[in-house]
Amino acid sequence: MLLKGDIDQQARDIIMANDQGSYTIPTKGLYPHQWNWDSAMAALGFAEFDLPRAWLELETLFSGQWPNGMVPHIIFHKPSEDYFPGPDVWGGNLGSIQSSGISQPPLASTMARFIYERDPVLGEQRIKELYPKMLAWHKWFVSHRSYEGAIISTHPWESGRDNAPDWDALMQSIDPVGLKPYTRKDTSMVDSSMRPGKFDYDRYLYLVSIGKKNAWDEYKLKELNPFRMADPGLTFMALRAARDLQYIGDHIEYDTSDLAKDIQSMEDGLTYIWNEDEGYFDARDTRTQEFSGSLTNASFLNWYAGHHSAEMLLKLRNQLSSIPFGIASHDPGSSKFDRGRYWRGPTWAIVNFLIGKGLEEMGHPEGVELRRRTREMMLKGGFSEYFDPITGEPKGGQSFTWTAVVWLVWAGKD
Ligand code: SER
Repeated sequence: MLLKGDIDQQARDIIMANDQGSYTIPTKGLYPHQWNWDSAMAALGFAEFDLPRAWLELETLFSGQWPNGMVPHIIFHKPSEDYFPGPDVWGGNLGSIQSSGISQPPLASTMARFIYERDPVLGEQRIKELYPKMLAWHKWFVSHRSYEGAIISTHPWESGRDNAPDWDALMQSIDPVGLKPYTRKDTSMVDSSMRPGKFDYDRYLYLVSIGKKNAWDEYKLKELNPFRMADPGLTFMALRAARDLQYIGDHIEYDTSDLAKDIQSMEDGLTYIWNEDEGYFDARDTRTQEFSGSLTNASFLNWYAGHHSAEMLLKLRNQLSSIPFGIASHDPGSSKFDRGRYWRGPTWAIVNFLIGKGLEEMGHPEGVELRRRTREMMLKGGFSEYFDPITGEPKGGQSFTWTAVVWLVWAGKD
C-alpha cells in the first residue's frame, strides 16, 4: 500500500514533469502549451514547495496578456505538433506572445491571494507588480463579458467546460458554414468516447474562425458572435476573483474603491443566472433569454463565490447521497448524463476543490465530506484528468498537473 508521503511525492513529480521552466503544461501530449486556469492551479501547487516558482508561473501567465487586459486561454510559448488548433488557426497575435483569442475562468487572482498569504513578505513585491495586470483582466471581464451583472462565455472553450450540456441548444442553432476540413489531434491520444463529438468540434472551430476574421475585436464580436452565454462557472469565479483582488489591494494599500461596485454588480448578476423553475444556478442565453436547464458542477460554485444558497445545499446533499464520487459535471439524473465524456458527467477534482473550498470557508461540513470523497477517488484512480462519478475510475488524460495540485493542497491534506 502506498503511504501518504509517497503519494505527495508522486503529485510533486507530476507537477515537475509538466514544468517547462517558467510555466507548466496541463499534461504531456494532449495539452502541450500554457492553459490559463490550469496554470493558476499549477502556481498554487508550486506554493507547497517552491514559492518563487509559484510567482513565476503567474508572471509568465500575465506575460501573455493583451493590451485590452484579456489573458488568453492558451499561450503558445513554443510550437507543438501535438495540439490542434494551433496559433495559425487562432490568429491571436494581439499580445506579445502568440495565443488563442478568448479567455478562461479567472482563477489567477484568487490563487495569487493564497500564494501571497503563505508568505506576505516574500510575495509583496511580486504581487504589487502583478496587481495592475490582474485588475486589468478583471476590468476586461466587466467591460466585455458582463451581461446584467452575470459573466458570459463567448465560446465553449472560454467557460473551460467545453462540451457541457449548457451550450447544447445554442450549438444546435449554429450552422458552421464554410468550415475548412481539419484533423483533430485529441482523439488520437484519448478515446473518442471521452471527448467532445464532431458536431461540437465543428462549431468550436467555426466560432474561432469568426473571431479570427474580425481580428478578435470585442466591439465587433459583440454583434457578430452568436455565442454569448451567461455562465454560472465564469460568474462565480470572476466574483470570487474580484473579492480577492479587493482583499489583496487593501493589504498592499492600493485603491480598491472601484471594486466594490463591480462586486455588487456581479452579486446582482446571480439573479440573472438563477433558474427559478428548476431551483438552481443555470447557464442562460443572453440573446434568447432561455435557460439551458443544466444542473452542472459549475452550478455549485456559489459558495466559492461567497454566496450561500439553501436550495443549492439541498441539491448538493442529494447528489452526495446518490452517487459516490461527485460532484458530477452534469446531473446524474438527467438523460444527457454521460459518465465518461469530459464535461457531460465525469467528476473533476479541480471543480470539487473549488466547490469544497467554498463550502469549508462558509462552515458547511459537506465541504469536508467532498474532500474525503475526492481523496478516496484519487487514491483509487490517481491523477487523471477526470473520473467516473459512479465507479471513481480514471478517465481522459493522465498525469494531470491540476489534479496533482488538488491532492497537495486539499484532497491529500489530513
Ligand atoms: N479544452 C480545450 C481542448 O480540449 C481547449 O481549451 O482543446
